[in-house]
Amino acid sequence: MPAMPTPLYTAEQIRTRVAELATSLATRFPTDETPHFVAVLNGSFMFLADLVRAMTRPVTIDFVRMASYGSATTTSGTPRLVHGPNSDLRDRHVVIVEDIVDTGLTLHKLREHLLAAQPRTLDTVVLLDKPARRRATVPVDLVGFRIPDRFVVGYGLDCDGAHRHLPYLGIVEAS
Ligand code: IMP
Repeated sequence: MPAMPTPLYTAEQIRTRVAELATSLATRFPTDETPHFVAVLNGSFMFLADLVRAMTRPVTIDFVRMASYGSATTTSGTPRLVHGPNSDLRDRHVVIVEDIVDTGLTLHKLREHLLAAQPRTLDTVVLLDKPARRRATVPVDLVGFRIPDRFVVGYGLDCDGAHRHLPYLGIVEAS
C-alpha cells in the first residue's frame, strides 16, 4: 500500500474553485455558440466531469491522450499526441481541459496540434499550475490553484497509478 498523501486541498475547496472556474468559462463565449472541451486523459477526467456539470450552458466534449517518456514523478521533454481528437475543431471555440501544467511541454505540444485544426478560439483551463519548473511559455487562461513544486496526487492525478481515485488533492514525496 502506498503511503497516504498529505492533504493539500479538500474536496470542498476543489468543488468551490471548480464552480468558480465554470462560471468564468461560461461567460467567455457567445451565448449562441457551444464551446468544445478537449480534455487530456487520464489525469483530467475528474476535473472535467465536475467542470461540465458546474457549467450553466451546454458544451461538447472530446478527449486526447499525450504520452511522454520518464518516471512517475519527473516529466521528460518529449511529449507526443497518441490519441484524438476525434472531432472537427475547425471554427469551434475549443477549450483544453488539463489537470496540471508543470514544465508546459505537454500543453505546448497539444496546442500546436489543436491550432493546426484551425479552431476559432483556443483557450486553456488547468486545475493546477506549478510554475517553478516551466520550460515552455504557454498561455493558460484559467487556473484552479497555483501550487509549489511538489508532486501532487488525487482528484484524477496519479503517482505510478496510485491515488487517482481520491476526492481530494494531496502531496507525495518524489521517488
Ligand atoms: P508538463 O508537460 O511538464 O507540463 O507535465 C504535464 C503532465 O505531467 C501532467 O499532465 C501530468 O500527467 C504530469 N505531472 C506533472 N506534475 C505532476 C504532479 O505533481 N502530479 C501528477 N502528475 C504530474
